[in-house]
Amino acid sequence: MSWSLLLALCALLLLLLKLLCFLCVDGDLTLMWSEWLGRRPEQELTGLVVWVTGASSGIGEELAYQLSKLGVSLVLSARRVHELERVKRKCLGNGNLKEKDIFILPFDLANRSSHEVATKAVLQEFGRIDVLVNNAGKTHSSLIVDTKMDFFKELMELNYLGTVSLTKCVLPHMIERKQGKIVIVNSLVSSVPIPIASGYCASKHALQGFIHSLQIELIKHPGIIASNICPGLVHSNIRKNMLTEEVTKTVGHNTTQVHKMATSRCVRLMLVAMANNLKEVWIGEQPYLLVAYLWQYVPTLAWWIIHKFWEKRIDLFKSGVDVSKTKYK
Ligand SMILES: NC(=O)c1ccc[n+]([C@@H]2O[C@H](COP(=O)([O-])OP(=O)(O)OC[C@H]3O[C@@H](n4cnc5c(N)ncnc54)[C@H](OP(=O)(O)O)[C@@H]3O)[C@@H](O)[C@H]2O)c1
Repeated sequence: MSWSLLLALCALLLLLLKLLCFLCVDGDLTLMWSEWLGRRPEQELTGLVVWVTGASSGIGEELAYQLSKLGVSLVLSARRVHELERVKRKCLGNGNLKEKDIFILPFDLANRSSHEVATKAVLQEFGRIDVLVNNAGKTHSSLIVDTKMDFFKELMELNYLGTVSLTKCVLPHMIERKQGKIVIVNSLVSSVPIPIASGYCASKHALQGFIHSLQIELIKHPGIIASNICPGLVHSNIRKNMLTEEVTKTVGHNTTQVHKMATSRCVRLMLVAMANNLKEVWIGEQPYLLVAYLWQYVPTLAWWIIHKFWEKRIDLFKSGVDVSKTKYK
């Protein structure tokens, strides 16, 4: 048997083995391995200063609760102060933190001129930033043909440029201290596109390119880790806060979330990723994770398998049906 044939067989076996494993897990294999045998968030993250954006709702809110149980100093950011106050009160209720350990810092991520001031405020409060979790973001539900240019601009300003700008403000401080973690809450749609959310997909693809380049440049700063966290569908208020065709309008109510991963599970896996300095993690229930892997290894086959679901989703959307109620959205 020739070497090339042997290599091809090994690769195929590896792929089949991976596919089998993926059917039973809700994260990529490195993440699952780290959860099983790696460092625990309780040992690695306690005592750190962690800045979470988008902490007033969904994944960011749950991050605040789980981090507060680990005994970190927390900076909670988003636009809605009353929601941040609510999250803070609940964090204090966990009993591990005192009033002085939680700093509420409201600002609009899309207003880049406020980022330098916000960074200085955190440094003044806690003296350092160990972890920046870039979590704030928005999605939308509209076909490309109906979506105004302002809309694409708004999503890029918030999801992409806002994250890049805040990261750039915090990075010099981490470089000076020769340590830190920069986390980007990206999405599986940064690898696998979905319909009716082109602006969101594009902004997450842009983040993917940015963080991969950042990771390479950080080779010169081994104490600083940049993590690209890519969840699939997760319980949150993202659909309630989702933009419609018009920039100024949101959906305003939460749609069915039965097929989504529990926020607490997603956040636990995110903390495992942070504790183990993982550079890229994929989090999701099946079949989403499997689709992501197929898309990576055999994109044309993946397209052939899932294009019918996408077609159905577009048809449902056009007929006014809530597409989030369809399983393979
Ligand atoms: N849920 C999912 O299925 C899913 C899957 C993959 C990735 N993600 C990503 O997870 C992240 C969190 O989303 P989520 O699902 O938790 O949604 P969510 O419940 O709607 O939370 C979004 C957060 O972002 C904040 N935010 C929105 N616009 C902002 C702005 N202009 N300035 C500052 N903060 C702003 C919101 O706070 P304010 O409104 O108070 O400003 C809120 O705290 C997003 O980056 C999203 O893309 C979510």
